[in-house]
Amino acid sequence: MKPSPISARPEDAFAKDVRAGLTAQPKSLPPKYFYDTLGSQLFEAICALPEYYLTRSETEILQRHAPEIVAHFPDPLSLVELGSGSAVKTRYLLDALLAKQKSLLYQPIDISESILRQSARQLSLDYPQLLVRGQVGDYTKGLGQIERQHNEALLVLFLGSNIGNYNPDEARQLLTALRQSLRPGDALLLGADLKKSAEVLTAAYDDALGVTAAFNLNLLNRINREFEADFDLKHFAHRAHYNADDGRVEMHLVSQKAQRVFLRRLNLSINFDAGETIHTENSWKFDLAQLQMLATETGFAVRQTWFDQAAFFSCNLWQVASS
Ligand code: TRP
Repeated sequence: MKPSPISARPEDAFAKDVRAGLTAQPKSLPPKYFYDTLGSQLFEAICALPEYYLTRSETEILQRHAPEIVAHFPDPLSLVELGSGSAVKTRYLLDALLAKQKSLLYQPIDISESILRQSARQLSLDYPQLLVRGQVGDYTKGLGQIERQHNEALLVLFLGSNIGNYNPDEARQLLTALRQSLRPGDALLLGADLKKSAEVLTAAYDDALGVTAAFNLNLLNRINREFEADFDLKHFAHRAHYNADDGRVEMHLVSQKAQRVFLRRLNLSINFDAGETIHTENSWKFDLAQLQMLATETGFAVRQTWFDQAAFFSCNLWQVASS
């Protein structure tokens, strides 16, 4: 598989976003830039952490219910996945589908070229009946390139509570755009993390080993490398906390002292006060009423929802609503 680059000059977009984010008040950086080669590997390590229950809960759901999920559809079905990553969880759905149909088209879209190449190669080796057609880049662009082999229905996977990394307006926009690239008979399987105690939520984003801290700080490494910047990582700290009013875990990088950073390639100097933060990520948490409303607002009908035994996480099958 050759993932095709679909955004013309992604490095320009990164430069623009870094300049805008670091000169804004308060400072922020978009989370999609976490996923360089090291960042993608650190994220895989996060998924294995004892505190990061999300991956285990979702895996439990897919392991137990994949046959029931795919039984909702007539054969054949094609799979699309937004933010496929290592695609380990996807395998439960591949197994369930390949027990019903002889071959399967799988179209993963991911921001990380390295992880996409690796997972596509491994899946092709492990599943000879699978045709993998990957795309590197943003979801919205990728959705325009989705193909059907024989006019079959599509099931779009959007797992890992990736939807929670969008603010409510952006989430609605993305799901509406997704709905518009689908047609009756197609569906979305949405993995959404659920509201729960602040202790459990905060620990998932601030683990004892410091892997999530490394993942967050690696964004500054990437900026140092790509823009010849001089962020001193010793003087920034990872902070995660649950903002219960907004129902989201917030991730920040906190400047440990007053300091100035220079980004040579952007000819940009940035001053930090002691304690000033760069907001790098939000992870929204949902309840079932919110998910129901989100489906309705974006042109989907909730077909079925599955939970892990602890009811920490949900997998939601949304059908394209008849308009
Ligand atoms: N979609 C993941 C989540 O919200 C992404 C994520 C997990 C993440 N851990 C992180 C992003 C730490 C930034 C920092 O759970």
